[in-house]
Amino acid sequence: MVLACDDVGAGPVVVLLHGFPFDRTTWAAQVDALKARHRVLTPDLPGHGASPARSAATTVSSMAQDVIDTLENHGVAGPVVVGGLSMGGYVALALAVEHPRRVRGLMLINSRAAADPPATKSVREDLARLVLADGHPGAVVDAMLPKLFAPGVGATDLAVTSIERVMRGTSPAGVAATLRGLALRPDRTPDLPSIAVPTLIVAGAEDQLIPIDESRAIQAAIPSAQLVVIAEAGHLAPLERPDAVNQAVLAFLDSLGTGG
Ligand code: MLT
Repeated sequence: MVLACDDVGAGPVVVLLHGFPFDRTTWAAQVDALKARHRVLTPDLPGHGASPARSAATTVSSMAQDVIDTLENHGVAGPVVVGGLSMGGYVALALAVEHPRRVRGLMLINSRAAADPPATKSVREDLARLVLADGHPGAVVDAMLPKLFAPGVGATDLAVTSIERVMRGTSPAGVAATLRGLALRPDRTPDLPSIAVPTLIVAGAEDQLIPIDESRAIQAAIPSAQLVVIAEAGHLAPLERPDAVNQAVLAFLDSLGTGG
């Protein structure tokens, strides 16, 4: 599937993949910071934003293939730097493992390598049914929103209301198919030592969904990985602390050079 995708700027290609259930607009601050020296592609993953939902479970591997189809549609044939927030990180990791020739640098932001434990799979299925029965994604928004931002730090009202608006605008079919696909994703932990490209791990010091030790373990397992911990950030570090995240991302991209 070719995805709806913004394609901005000129220079080495960077692909940024949003989290669940968000859309490409969540990368606005990063696109602004990168576009002077990079070509930045921000797709809407299937069932999010302007990209249609699949009728069945949307697996992480199928999303990785969609990203490749989208790159080809935009005339990008060579290897790219790919980064993802949380679910987007699962897809970025799938690209690095399943399509290594397409990836020259990897950024995993507020993300993880492990599969869902059984309890999480069952919560996802319950939520998928609820959202389809309700005809709106409110149950997912209510479950996730309180855990997205660093507690007590005071995310701006604008950040909270804008992400809530995006979440409530995601189609129930897209939310359900994605929940079911995420529950099917494999444990990538055994693959981490074979990732040969430079990798940046970004973690929120106060991420309530992904404990920082998971980010430390990923960094230790990937041979060429560095970890940047963003203070006063939760699960949405690129939105909560855009300047700190942009600084880490730009330093990483500079270290990679143009890639030819
Ligand atoms: C995300 O932010 O993308 C989600 O927390 C991912 C997930 O539900 O595993």
